[in-house]
Amino acid sequence: MNRLVDKNREKVMDVLAERLCFERTSVKLYEKVLERMRRMLGWNAAASDAGDYTTYGLSGFRDPDALRALRKDIEREQGGAAAESDPEERFTAAILRDVEACRDQEKAHARWLEEYIRKLGGDPERMTEMAKLSTRESRGIDAVIMKDAELPHLFHALLAAEHLDAAGWDLLVALADDAGDRDTRDEFEKRLREEEQHLSFVREALRTFAAHAILGQDFRSPTLGAPPAH
Ligand SMILES: [Fe+2]
Repeated sequence: MNRLVDKNREKVMDVLAERLCFERTSVKLYEKVLERMRRMLGWNAAASDAGDYTTYGLSGFRDPDALRALRKDIEREQGGAAAESDPEERFTAAILRDVEACRDQEKAHARWLEEYIRKLGGDPERMTEMAKLSTRESRGIDAVIMKDAELPHLFHALLAAEHLDAAGWDLLVALADDAGDRDTRDEFEKRLREEEQHLSFVREALRTFAAHAILGQDFRSPTLGAPPAH
């Protein structure tokens, strides 16, 4: 049998561990982005339903989101339509499902890698040399996840992550291809295609943030799986 893993078991397991480590980081990153998006979309309704402003959160008064939500609810009560006309909110609502779909695929990739490593006799929790390298490289992305509330900044971090993600699967495809392991190559390629769709989607999302901020263009919502707009 011409299996990739038989070429150099230790090194192949090392590369797979790197992929798993990074997929777990990607899931965390998407969770943070989704939390930020839902907060932007959900706070107004929650506060209105409750009939007071406590749902904005006590600590929220130091948070630009809380102040923005509070201001918009006051405007709404005074007959203003600012909340409904916020283009960033409409954009956020339009892409939420696709961002969730990306997160779900990253989770599925991590689960598949865990099972695959186990099937090959490895331990998915083992911090190999490449897994440690991936952890060190991800620290900057982690710092953005933990400390930065700006949605365009989070998408910028997502774009960096998706570039690494796609490159990681691309390497695995090339290795399986060179080893003549067609079954494994097909499995890796399926994930690579999904990562390429994430990359294209996040690139378009970031482009629309920048085009809005710099050129004053309207937000254009990308669709996961659709070819990039030009
Ligand atoms: Fe991805």
